[in-house]
Amino acid sequence: MADKDGLKVAKDYQVNEPFANQGNFQVKGAAALDWGMKHRMSKIFNPRTGKTVMFAFDHGYFMGSTAGLERLDITVPNLMPYVDVLMCTRGALRTCVPANNNCGVALRVTSGSSMLNDDLSHEVVAVDIEEAVRLNADCMAVQTFIGADGQLSSLDNLNRVVNAGMRYGIPTLGVVAVGKDMERTDRFFKLATRIVAEMGVQIVKTYNCEHFDEVVAACPVPIVVAGGKKLPEKEALTLAYDVIRQGAAGVDMGRNIFQSQHPIEMAQAVRKVVHEGFTDKEAYEFYLDSVN
Ligand code: R5P
Repeated sequence: MADKDGLKVAKDYQVNEPFANQGNFQVKGAAALDWGMKHRMSKIFNPRTGKTVMFAFDHGYFMGSTAGLERLDITVPNLMPYVDVLMCTRGALRTCVPANNNCGVALRVTSGSSMLNDDLSHEVVAVDIEEAVRLNADCMAVQTFIGADGQLSSLDNLNRVVNAGMRYGIPTLGVVAVGKDMERTDRFFKLATRIVAEMGVQIVKTYNCEHFDEVVAACPVPIVVAGGKKLPEKEALTLAYDVIRQGAAGVDMGRNIFQSQHPIEMAQAVRKVVHEGFTDKEAYEFYLDSVN
């Protein structure tokens, strides 16, 4: 192993140089994937724009009933026409999501933590690959805790899911967790996203930070950005705009959509930023026009 004291600080990200191994496929890092995996990636990342609007409502897997998600059976079907991908648990999917829809599915396959634990970083793989196949999942989401107590077991979970996914042609989405004691600096996100990508995932989910364009440049697979805690709609649209402008391949928003006073209009405004090149200002005007 390299001597970490002798390592140089990375700085040459060439953020204006496009990814060099794109091939003729719309998704970064996916040129060498097999047909089935590419087809699933195309359910997630629109073939025309190469981007995605994921709707995250998997919060119940560790938070229980969350404000805005009390009735998954009502909230989720209302929003499905306006998002590309549903990120959820198998429990939510089977019970509350009608199967006659065109959304991709990002299936949460790890569990084990809850808000009642002080340390959320210990999880297990809870959903096996046959279940992911049965549910026709387009990717499997695994929480990873870089720099936390549970790092080793979370990377073990991740690698086992990536191996199974490679056997069956289902992409893995590595979620970079940020616990209460973990820093949210670009230094942390460059480290964590790159480690997760080098474990072989096809998609990374992470958070916005300073120098986000460098985080994107150094990560050889698409990055989707989590929305995080509820912000005023204008700020949430600015978050989406900032990360898309800096190279994110989409957003994976939960609370900023389902806790909005107008979730459908908010989802539509986010779409405008992600797929239609709207600025945050234009998208917010669209949102205001739609709700008034
Ligand atoms: C973490 O991965 C969570 O389970 C959510 O999927 C994620 O935080 C996205 O939701 P939100 O935009 O509410 O943060």
